[in-house]
Amino acid sequence: MARRKKIYEGKAKILYEGTEPGTFVQYFKDDTSAGDGAKKAQIDGKGVLNNRLSEFFMTGLNQIGVPTHFIRRLNMREQLVRQVEIIPLEVVVRNVAAGSISKRLGIAEGTPLPRPIVEYYFKDDSLHDPMVSEEHVIAFGWASQQDLDDIIALALRVNDFLSGVMLGVGIRLVDFKIEIGRIWEGDFMRLVVADEISPDSCRLWDIETGQKLDKDVFRRDLGSLSDAYTEVARRLGVLPTNVTHSVKPTVIN
Ligand code: TMP
Repeated sequence: MARRKKIYEGKAKILYEGTEPGTFVQYFKDDTSAGDGAKKAQIDGKGVLNNRLSEFFMTGLNQIGVPTHFIRRLNMREQLVRQVEIIPLEVVVRNVAAGSISKRLGIAEGTPLPRPIVEYYFKDDSLHDPMVSEEHVIAFGWASQQDLDDIIALALRVNDFLSGVMLGVGIRLVDFKIEIGRIWEGDFMRLVVADEISPDSCRLWDIETGQKLDKDVFRRDLGSLSDAYTEVARRLGVLPTNVTHSVKPTVIN
């Protein structure tokens, strides 16, 4: 069998050349990391769950007219996606204070924010993804003012969709991160939601108990990440049948 061409390998995913022109195959690994890779582990079945969950969210977004890179799931760990030119920003939307905004501004975790807040972080591991302003984004040419207007509109639509879906299964969407890609169609460019949407890139709290069901379970050593992600998938009705539940956190650092 011919080896596929690897395009890019990140911390949690690998991109391979696609099976059709203008596509990539996105492979979800079991690797998890936090603190810019300082803490690492393999979580059995995480890639399978995130492949399913990202398929679920991206399909729903496509159905309500929010464009994404997702085409179709290929197998347990892989999905076919459109080739995009990634804008080098992590776009974060927050509904409730937690994580870095709580630290930076001294707002107690769990405090509802007056309105959804959209933030940008420059995607650069060596700089630890610093927060940047619209001024930086435009001055350094990462995106135009028009792009930013479109990015905010996309991010807020994703927020409304995800918040509603999660509310329906008793989960509060505290915050999330998305990445945006450009797709060129002749001379025209459009922006789409790219990368993944999964509990790796969201904060999800049980509405009744406040229990964390996202990657903070790993970041903060709160128990089994696999159990948390399985619970999210179970509530959403997208639990694959043969995921192993055992967690072997081979902490490297
Ligand atoms: P933060 O509180 O650490 O800034 O993170 C906000 C949300 O964005 C949280 O759900 C985690 C997610 N996120 C990522 O998935 N990757 C990143 O590189 C960053 C900065 C945030």
